[in-house]
Amino acid sequence: MATSQKMAETADGMMHSLTEDTWATPTTQLFAFIGVLWLSLKVFSFWRLIASLFILPGTSLSTFGKKGSWAVITGASDGIGKEYALQLAQKGFNIVLVSRTQSKLDTLAAEIQRMCKVQCKTLAMDFAANNDSDFAKLKQMVQELDVSILVNNVGLSHSIPVPFAETPEREVQDIITINCMGTLRVSQLIAPGMVRRKNGLILTMASFGGILPTPLLATYSGSKAFLQQWSSALSSELAPHGVKVQLVQSYLVTSAMSKIRRSSAMVPTPKQFVRAALGKIGRSGGAQGVAATSTPYWAHGIMHWAIATLTPGPMNKYVIDVNKSMHEDIRKRALRKAERDGKKSS
Ligand SMILES: NC(=O)c1ccc[n+]([C@@H]2O[C@H](COP(=O)([O-])OP(=O)(O)OC[C@H]3O[C@@H](n4cnc5c(N)ncnc54)[C@H](OP(=O)(O)O)[C@@H]3O)[C@@H](O)[C@H]2O)c1
Ligand SMILES: *[C@@H]1O[C@H](CO)[C@@H](O)[C@H](O)[C@H]1NC(C)=O
Ligand SMILES: *[C@@H]1O[C@H](CO)[C@@H](O)[C@H](O)[C@H]1NC(C)=O
Repeated sequence: MATSQKMAETADGMMHSLTEDTWATPTTQLFAFIGVLWLSLKVFSFWRLIASLFILPGTSLSTFGKKGSWAVITGASDGIGKEYALQLAQKGFNIVLVSRTQSKLDTLAAEIQRMCKVQCKTLAMDFAANNDSDFAKLKQMVQELDVSILVNNVGLSHSIPVPFAETPEREVQDIITINCMGTLRVSQLIAPGMVRRKNGLILTMASFGGILPTPLLATYSGSKAFLQQWSSALSSELAPHGVKVQLVQSYLVTSAMSKIRRSSAMVPTPKQFVRAALGKIGRSGGAQGVAATSTPYWAHGIMHWAIATLTPGPMNKYVIDVNKSMHEDIRKRALRKAERDGKKSS
């Protein structure tokens, strides 16, 4: 009896000191609380991601314009732009197609008019020329139209990854002129009509290059970061006027620009990408906490969320350096290929 009581007392004492030393001090309790809170926030954020990508529907496109209203798409004749045009036509919008090559525009306009009962207008212009008379023509064209959707899709990247100091001046100028000036000028032509009608949607194609500083694509990366800031700011300006502005974030998609032909879970076709983008208007997808921005395609969304939530963040030096070695590799391969092709043709 005496022994067992003694043993119990000792055990009790051990328990007591254990609890006291490791769990009961206010500091450890505070850390435990912070840890649990942090983990709960991550888990909650993950469920928001899953709901946004896979469960919740986006705003219906019909909210932005009556039947018979128009959608303007820049860079519309190929890749992602062509898909925006086709899918918006299938939803009953009349379409204005803008890009460089008239013959490609004519072919697509004919295809759209054959498939869908909508009207189609085209304008061939080179955004790199930044020619006032082109923008005047576009202005005249859209003046009479009830434009309810603008897709700022036109964009140019570097032909191959290249150190900034060695980038041809022409390439630097074209990227900034097309990606930034082109987008600003077209939006300035079209937004006032939307504000007057108190309705509309402006989508702008960005790129992970704009979230993650991208060595060897520095100018492209900067131009897309510009679009991110501009679009989020514009969204706040136009929201009180009933116009929705959304930046569409994307990692790689199969196209002439990415030079990737085979699709995979991580690299969707333009068709898959645009279906996600148009189906998730108003949803953040993987772009949680970034105002008026969406990363709508599921695998891109998870990647965006993981970079923002589970790494030290996209602006971290380590994250940037990993990307740099990747692009140095791509550049080496591209230069070797150019050399081989050069030898073949000579
Ligand atoms: N593909 C990707 O992996 C990826 C990833 C992230 C973001 N994005 C963005 O998505 C957008 C579309 O990319 P994409 O891959 O679909 O490109 P793409 O396949 O190269 O198509 C570009 C389109 O723009 C037109 N275009 C090119 N230069 C032009 C110019 N100077 N003036 C007028 N039109 C011009 C082209 O038609 P013409 O040749 O007839 O002019 C074509 O219709 C871009 O803003 C890009 O930055 C793409
Ligand atoms: C702009 O386009 C017009 C009409 O196509 C042309 O006459 C003019 O020379 C162009 N301007 C420049 C600066 O290229
Ligand atoms: C790396 O490079 C690609 C373009 O090739 C870019 O889109 C991406 O944002 C960069 N960052 C990471 C972490 O992949």
